[in-house]
Amino acid sequence: MKVLIFKTPEEATEAAYDMVIKRFDEGLKTIGLATGSTPLKLYEKLRQSNRDVSHITTVNLDEYVGLEPDDPQSYNYYMNEVLFKYMNFASTNVPNGVAEDLEKECERFEEILRRHPVDLQILGMGPNGHIGFNEPGTSFDSVTHVAELTPSTREANKRFFEKEEDVPKKAITMGISSIMDSKEVMMLAFGEAKAEAVRCMVEGPVTVDCPASVLQNHPNAIIILDEAAAGKL
Ligand code: GLP
Repeated sequence: MKVLIFKTPEEATEAAYDMVIKRFDEGLKTIGLATGSTPLKLYEKLRQSNRDVSHITTVNLDEYVGLEPDDPQSYNYYMNEVLFKYMNFASTNVPNGVAEDLEKECERFEEILRRHPVDLQILGMGPNGHIGFNEPGTSFDSVTHVAELTPSTREANKRFFEKEEDVPKKAITMGISSIMDSKEVMMLAFGEAKAEAVRCMVEGPVTVDCPASVLQNHPNAIIILDEAAAGKL
């Protein structure tokens, strides 16, 4: 894995943006997107770029189970608000967290991934090293599935909800194997709260206890950090 460290999240985002645009110019067909606060500035720069993306398909890592796509806390809503309504992507795909049959929805999503192999997957990470919603202990062979969120993840994500009880207990997430199938992955991690997870990802053993450590096995992984997130390297 290639690790790049920048002084601030702004500088790191600038580098990430330049790389994404370079991939667009090189003919990228499918981009994998992440939610959370980390890529927000990257999406702001992308929507301000006024790029023609009418040949590009997007797939998203995950969605909470039980939230309607127009629920302001859902990842469908987030993606529409920060990116999709400003850019003319060929098609956008976020799992449907209110599908009647969640297993079928996971299969449908895997089928989308088969038809649209991801060229570049943007990733963020949880403070416990999760990627997408693949929590510690998730098999590296996992494909898109319904995941139980750990108490620590629900705690970390409660800032986006009114009350902790409102944070869903489950999510649909691309699996670790689905993420590893991407030709290239770009992980963004900023801030001190991620420093321990970053250390495990980069320097720790490759283990299901730190899902992001699997990226050490990816042939094309780039890790973009600010100094605070790199503080324990
Ligand atoms: C959620 C998402 C992850 C994301 C993580 C980090 O748990 N499922 O895909 O990487 O949050 O969020 P933040 O960037 O806000 O720290």
